[in-house]
Amino acid sequence: MASYKALVLLVTLFLSIFSSAEAQTAPDKPAIILVPGAFHKASVYDQVKQLLNEVDYNHIDAIDLPSVGSLASYVDREPDIIAVRLALLARLLQGHNVVLVGNSYGATVIGEAVSGLQSVGKLASGPSPPGRILGLIMLSGFIPYITEVSQPDSRPDIRVISPSWFRFENTDRVYWNGNTTAFPPQKTFYDLLPTTQADYWSCKLVPSSFHALNATATYIPYTGDFRCLFVIGEQDNSVPPAFAQTYIDQPGAKFETLTIDGDHVPMLSRPDVTADIIRRFAGEKF
Ligand SMILES: *[C@@H]1O[C@H](CO)[C@@H](O)[C@H](O)[C@H]1NC(C)=O
Ligand SMILES: *[C@@H]1O[C@H](CO)[C@@H](O)[C@H](O)[C@H]1NC(C)=O
Repeated sequence: MASYKALVLLVTLFLSIFSSAEAQTAPDKPAIILVPGAFHKASVYDQVKQLLNEVDYNHIDAIDLPSVGSLASYVDREPDIIAVRLALLARLLQGHNVVLVGNSYGATVIGEAVSGLQSVGKLASGPSPPGRILGLIMLSGFIPYITEVSQPDSRPDIRVISPSWFRFENTDRVYWNGNTTAFPPQKTFYDLLPTTQADYWSCKLVPSSFHALNATATYIPYTGDFRCLFVIGEQDNSVPPAFAQTYIDQPGAKFETLTIDGDHVPMLSRPDVTADIIRRFAGEKF
């Protein structure tokens, strides 16, 4: 991947010019990268970000995915991966250890973003070694099965495997409102939010790129390369516990798991629980 090497070079150059002061004062709390799912903007992480800020996590990136919103018709999965990888490389090269958090489809994106970075921070030495990737937290992850990478022809079209309430605008954009009578977002995403909040967030949903959702994964991070925590929501109507279990039960999958009283978007319905999960994963004891 020539573009990837160029990206690393560019980020290194940029940081050596602009960030030398920051690199010298190593912070104790890891950097956190927060990635939303399909249809959702990064603002769904605002409360979690605030809670982490209050306990001295000072390096948090909540990433707006290019495949969500106005560019949805024009991009595939690659710009999503690059957006996360750019933030990740910047934090690593500043010397920060990093925890990546992905909700739903965002868990797929963080999984691709760490591909090729298994040994960063392990072999490095020198005056300012890069940080390490501490691991991945998949909140209600909608993720590839191992076979999707080992047998790339095994993955069906997204139109076959998606929930019945996905609405497809040909092969350009995907919406959440295919059946709002039986499956409104207040049920599929926000069933633990008070009605006014569920309505508010339902109005903020935006379309996602068909090709981002229909892409075939190229890498599986959860077979031993990285520490991976899968968080299951007991009240999740989009990736319900039984569905989540099909990821966890795969031969070769190595997950830590945690079941919470959550829905599909716990950053909104359970911000305190979500922040605590991140803090404990990052090494805090309480
Ligand atoms: C969606 O993905 C499937 C499986 O990889 C592929 O066969 C199909 O052509 C894709 N659909 C479109 C419209 O690109
Ligand atoms: C919506 O879902 C319900 C429950 O599965 C089903 O009975 C109904 O036919 C669906 N409506 C549409 C328009 O697909």
